Amino acid sequence: HHANVLFEDKLMQVCHLLRDNVDYYDWVGFYFRNGDKEELKLGPYAGEPTDHTIIPFGKGICGQVAVSNQNFVVPDVTAQDNYIACSFTVKSEIVIPLFVNGENVGQIDIDSEDLDAFTEADERFLEYVNQEVAKLLEK
Ligand code: SME
Repeated sequence: HHANVLFEDKLMQVCHLLRDNVDYYDWVGFYFRNGDKEELKLGPYAGEPTDHTIIPFGKGICGQVAVSNQNFVVPDVTAQDNYIACSFTVKSEIVIPLFVNGENVGQIDIDSEDLDAFTEADERFLEYVNQEVAKLLEK
């Protein structure tokens, strides 16, 4: 409905703002829990289209964060066994869970074409971004 369209539009703007302003953020997107299913569904994103619009809980970096509720920083994606490659140009990745009223409802996922691109400063910054996004959903 209307409120959801506005929310998705705002999230799309967040994705583009981040990708356009941080040179090592090459793909920026949100995944959300798909209803009552044990899977993530791709939401708004900026960057190349991905085939991975549905990710089962536990699969890949994103699926692991859906169950761990923890930040996941991957300095070198080739060193990960449980990883879903979206593009062969991606070298590192960061996934930060999104909590709404204390519940893990999704995540922000960022890919970089630079090796070891993400620091604790990115973690703190993206936690802040997610807190601001959560405010749009909390009543
Ligand atoms: N690499 C992710 C999949 C999502 S793409 O990066 C957009 C993963 O391993 O979960």
